[in-house]
Amino acid sequence: MTGAPPDPAPDTTPVIEFRGVGLTYPGPPPVPALRPSDLRIGRGEFVTVVGPSGSGKSTFLNIAGLLDAPTTGTYLLDGIPTRELSDKARTGLRGNRVGFVFQSFHLLPHRTALENVALAMVYTGVPPAERLARARTALERVGLAHRTASPPTRLSGGERQRVAIARAVAGGPSLLLCDEPTGNLDSENARKVMELLADLHREGLTVVVITHDRQVALRGGRTVTIRDGRLNETREDGPAYEAGAGDGVGAVTAAGAAALAAGGAV
Ligand SMILES: Nc1ncnc2c1ncn2[C@@H]1O[C@H](COP(=O)(O)OP(=O)(O)O)[C@@H](O)[C@H]1O
Ligand SMILES: [Mg+2]
Repeated sequence: MTGAPPDPAPDTTPVIEFRGVGLTYPGPPPVPALRPSDLRIGRGEFVTVVGPSGSGKSTFLNIAGLLDAPTTGTYLLDGIPTRELSDKARTGLRGNRVGFVFQSFHLLPHRTALENVALAMVYTGVPPAERLARARTALERVGLAHRTASPPTRLSGGERQRVAIARAVAGGPSLLLCDEPTGNLDSENARKVMELLADLHREGLTVVVITHDRQVALRGGRTVTIRDGRLNETREDGPAYEAGAGDGVGAVTAAGAAALAAGGAV
């Protein structure tokens, strides 16, 4: 027996696996915000989620990110069943594996960009001594090395969202969840933010972006539509953006555009 051991099998465990996952807010009256749904999102995918206001997009994202627990079904994150987890285990799993980006940035106004990014690693198990170094690297990664000492109040909207993205990725998550990340940005800053998310995806991160902007939706390799709490695939046609196209949020392939138009999303 000579030679190298056989390659390990590639990890095909989905990052997100919903088996009949649903959430009904108790009310009264009860609100079926997410109807029981099946969904798999594999490692390294870039998925966009579209749907009208109130359709359940944030509910979906909050479940996927372990901010809310479903009221029915089984959710596996990185193959780990999440239902029976203690609060502490849930918080740990979320801290280590999930990065969040929100429409309104959710930055601490009186802390510097560097502190905002470093503080988010408190729950990730990154040793305190390493947090500042990693925060600095993450801010460099999003093009803000020169703004580390600025509080968010002195940054533009686009810069704030890039700080939030640095915060989301600094701990090395396996999943980046973005809830309307361009919703508060002008088109130029929206384009830059989507470019950055596409770059992170190319580097291997699994990215889910919720949007109600169809141009943003076209950036994903796959789009899931949600209406009245029902999840549906609308297209599955490989990356819809052209690598390195870099000429706008709408830098999409003809195939992607045609497929989305056919699917009638948003
Ligand atoms: N905490 C809550 N309690 C009760 N109903 C809620 C709560 N959060 C959201 N909802 C309802 O659930 C539905 C889906 O909301 P949401 O997921 O926020 O939609 P979207 O993000 O697509 O706008 C809406 O009808 C909304 O009013
Ligand atoms: Mg929402």
